[in-house]
Amino acid sequence: MVYLKNSEGNSFYVSDFRIRVFQKLRLPTLSERYAVLKDSGWNTFRIPVEKVYIDMLTDSGVNAISLEQLSDMLGLGLEDAYAGNRAYYKLIDAFKEFFPHKYLILAHQGRAAENLVFKALMKNGKKPYVLTNIHFTTTRAIVERVYGGRMIELPVPEAFDPENQCQFKGNIDTSKLEDEVKRLGPENIAAVRIEYASNLLGGQPFSMKNYYETREICDKYGLPLVADISMADWQIALMKKRDPMAMGKSASEIIYELMELTDVAYASARKGFYVRGGFITIKGDERLYEEVRSWQVVFEGHTSYGGMSLKEIAMLIDGLKMAFNDDLPFYELEQIEYTVKKLDERGIPVVKPPGGLGVHVDARRFLPHVQLIPSGEEGGYPAGALVCALYLVSGIRGMERGQLSMDRDPETWREIPVQLDLVRLAMPRKTYLQDHLDYLVDRLTWLLENRDIIKGLNWIYEPPVLRFFEGILIDQGNWGLRLLEVYRKQLGEI
Ligand code: F0G
Repeated sequence: MVYLKNSEGNSFYVSDFRIRVFQKLRLPTLSERYAVLKDSGWNTFRIPVEKVYIDMLTDSGVNAISLEQLSDMLGLGLEDAYAGNRAYYKLIDAFKEFFPHKYLILAHQGRAAENLVFKALMKNGKKPYVLTNIHFTTTRAIVERVYGGRMIELPVPEAFDPENQCQFKGNIDTSKLEDEVKRLGPENIAAVRIEYASNLLGGQPFSMKNYYETREICDKYGLPLVADISMADWQIALMKKRDPMAMGKSASEIIYELMELTDVAYASARKGFYVRGGFITIKGDERLYEEVRSWQVVFEGHTSYGGMSLKEIAMLIDGLKMAFNDDLPFYELEQIEYTVKKLDERGIPVVKPPGGLGVHVDARRFLPHVQLIPSGEEGGYPAGALVCALYLVSGIRGMERGQLSMDRDPETWREIPVQLDLVRLAMPRKTYLQDHLDYLVDRLTWLLENRDIIKGLNWIYEPPVLRFFEGILIDQGNWGLRLLEVYRKQLGEI
């Protein structure tokens, strides 16, 4: 974005890109949307994309690409090779510009990078604990279900209060961190993990001060600091807006400073780096690198491609420059801020302050009559129900980020209660326009007025791991049909 003054002397902004490739969208009719929900088991992950009007499920793998990346996709001048392709060496050089880290390892996506990192650091379960600001679903599945460990979350208390205006809800609680390190014993702790623009908190950043303090604790107890930088673009842009220790610095200076404090960084490149793939960087620990690299060739492929295609490796070179650009990441931040403000004005409960990643609606306050966990005939999961209701009345697809996204305790098969039930409306990078957002605001406003119709969901089929991806549910008491009828009467078939 370009920030400047308008003719009246007030500050405003204009976008710093234009769009030359477009995709025609079609809004499916109300009856089609209802049929799709029934066929998809009241789970937005199961909806075919041609039945989606505005896809805000995720920002992963669905960002617009740049002109430079489009030409990378042609692969001209690149020579494919099983080992030692030219793009890989160029990528290593590109990384050096932003990372004071010695080693780079590629993987086919973020969770594959997580698997390699935690396999090595947890020593196959001998160091069972990972202390973190907040878990992510795939990280937890790998740490706990694959390697038998435990993720211990230590967010600041403000993080779970959607109304609290704390600017750094992604901070780790450093006094709790030190207490937990002492309680568990540093020898049992694999790593301290900090997620950038914390996903499950609603894209919330940490502060530079908090990161330095975390580093100090890691130094004191000899623990590695691991960073999940999948959304480093928004983390850094939010720091530039809010953090006195980052203001006035360039994005490349900030990432360099953060990485100097970090032992291991990993990312899903599908998010902030605009390309399918993943990577790990290691600051200097040669033994760790050797271990990670040896398993990379088992799980991902030869070191010089690690599950990524040659074209994707070339696209990642440009993706790095886009993630650590001083202007580009602000487009989505402005979109999120705009939408959050409009929703807030209409009384729709949203996570504040606006962060990165997307707009997060607080389903607990939107649907206070829906119980958090299903029991008996009533059904439950307010965020799961609300995300389906929104699709029904708009064709907009969001994602449940709450109780449904948390797997049960594998031993007792009991639900593990979560603290936030959010409907996430992700903002894929450079993809949607302001009128799309106004439409979202309008349909959520209509839903708020008719929220009493929406009831809970219940399981028909519940997978044992990462259940939210493929689970099949039902709208308890057939509330979807009632919502369709009321909508049709008031607003018609579209
Ligand atoms: N870490 C974070 C913070 C993520 O947001 C994701 C993915 C991953 C790791 C795993 O990466 O999908 O490439 O294997 N987040 C996506 C999302 C799925 O929609 O939030 P992956």
